[in-house]
Amino acid sequence: MLLIKLDATDSTNAYLKDLLVSQNPPDGTVVQAVWQKKGRGQLGRDWVSDPGKNLTISILKRFKGLEVSEQFVLSIITSLAVAAVLKKYQVPNVQVKWPNDILSGKQKLCGILVENMVKGTQLNSAIIGIGLNVNQDQFPPGLNATSIKMLTAEEHILGEVLKDLLGILEQQFEKYLHKSLESAIEAYEKLLFRRGEEVKFRTATEELFTGTLLGIDASGRLMVRNSQSTKAYGFNEIRMVIQE
Ligand code: BTN
Repeated sequence: MLLIKLDATDSTNAYLKDLLVSQNPPDGTVVQAVWQKKGRGQLGRDWVSDPGKNLTISILKRFKGLEVSEQFVLSIITSLAVAAVLKKYQVPNVQVKWPNDILSGKQKLCGILVENMVKGTQLNSAIIGIGLNVNQDQFPPGLNATSIKMLTAEEHILGEVLKDLLGILEQQFEKYLHKSLESAIEAYEKLLFRRGEEVKFRTATEELFTGTLLGIDASGRLMVRNSQSTKAYGFNEIRMVIQE
């Protein structure tokens, strides 16, 4: 495994994407930044992390025969791996807020940004970006963020957490990729935040509606039932509105 550790970079996902174009790095290449200056989140948001406190990493995965329609499995596998690491570190009440925010209770402690390289109908490779809050003990108010240290009162060596994460991620890829999508979905749904509950959602066009969060379908779309029907929503179509 090639580990590229940088003191500072704008975004490890962006760095790895450039490297992919210029140097054709091997499968499994990992880029880690001590200080990520312009971390990227989902839907064009920022990912802010104090220098040296947390894991900000990107991992290159190369594929053969993975259809674009199956791309959600990467988010599922990564979410399951992060959840397993957090359980190992005794983080309580680990849940996944669809599509791939990792929570303890209602507070977020890890964000995942998967960026896919597509050729025709197939995925060539993907950059799996993970921001995992490990030792940070203060976050800007309103972020609703937390860290392993805040939840367990223990500080951890980032290199060790990284080793655990990469090992478990590899195992989860072995277990599920090209093998058992159904069991991956089942494991993911067990962790799914607010599953079976009435939840408020906001659509991409800013409409609000309430429905029962049922689970995900085979393409990773969120299944929501309201009084009229059950509908599946893609990544960019709805967001959950968290209520206290
Ligand atoms: C989110 O929750 O919106 C996703 C956040 C993903 C953050 C990680 S940190 C490492 C990698 N590099 C980035 O620029 N983003 C991801």
